Amino acid sequence: MSQVKVTPAPVISVLNMKGGVGKTTISAHLFRHMMSITGKSILLIDFDPQFNLTQTLMTQSKYKAFREKNKTIFSVMEPPSTPSMFKVAKNLGPPPHVDDVKEQLFYWTATGKTALGLIPGDFRMIKYTLVDDSKMLQPVQKRFSDFIESAREQYDLVVIDCNPSSSFMTICAINASTHLLTPVRSDRYSVLGLELLDEFVNGLPVITKKPKQMVLINGGPGKNTENEFERALRANSKFGPLTLPTILKSSTLLGAKEGKVGCATDKKVAHVNALKRNMASIVNEMKGSLGWVP
Ligand SMILES: Nc1ncnc2c1ncn2[C@@H]1O[C@H](COP(=O)(O)OP(=O)(O)OP(=O)(O)O)[C@@H](O)[C@H]1O
Ligand SMILES: [Mg+2]
Repeated sequence: MSQVKVTPAPVISVLNMKGGVGKTTISAHLFRHMMSITGKSILLIDFDPQFNLTQTLMTQSKYKAFREKNKTIFSVMEPPSTPSMFKVAKNLGPPPHVDDVKEQLFYWTATGKTALGLIPGDFRMIKYTLVDDSKMLQPVQKRFSDFIESAREQYDLVVIDCNPSSSFMTICAINASTHLLTPVRSDRYSVLGLELLDEFVNGLPVITKKPKQMVLINGGPGKNTENEFERALRANSKFGPLTLPTILKSSTLLGAKEGKVGCATDKKVAHVNALKRNMASIVNEMKGSLGWVP
């Protein structure tokens, strides 16, 4: 079973307040490939009420079974029996154990240790976009961060797929993170979006240590060549150095399709090797920042 590690694992929030930039695509497919080529165990957390990450990785019937047993992110935040969508109980108790809520997506064949786990999403997370009483929500944030701390001992990496709007959930994710991975489209507003996110992170009142940032240009769908916006981003004195050299290319294998479940690099189809090479370059560029031997 899982061992307790000395140094807690890094936690990456895949975050951009701009919608549709590839946060979920990257959380699912890039990190699944990272697991393959690095041999690290990774826990993915679906932290968006729209739960697209879960829909990418779990069949509808499996999700239904998990949801019925309350094995979702909502149970991490509060005991699922909590009666109101607008109130939070004062004493929430400790969070569940990771193994009691996770879906095991892949295993280590050698030791049986989970290689890739998923904490399924839950539409009820919408509650945290409706309730904005920060005092009332404090115990929820504490419960979430306690959960992340225990996940960091069990896994080599924790990845949080965030929702696009800035909300209580964004604050929980940033506070629990050692790293932010911000996907951007190379368009005229990408630098503006990064500046806003940076302002938001700097303005957080209780942040103990600012997470390290990495920016990943997502070329897809449609844009695979360098353009003037990419050049401007790379030339930007603040964000240029944080931007990974390799862009995630557009690939039809990464396009979300209704009813299709699974990871792109597991498909045995044409072009999968090109996608794997593209992702391997990105993974290698991330290793240094994560404190892994490049
Ligand atoms: N590199 C790529 N190649 C092809 N399609 C892509 C690529 N990146 C993202 N897409 C597609 O673009 C759409 C938006 O991506 P995704 O859902 O990952 O963005 P998001 O940032 O998570 O969105 P949201 O803000 O709504 O959570 C999806 O249909 C996805 O399949
Ligand atoms: Mg998403």
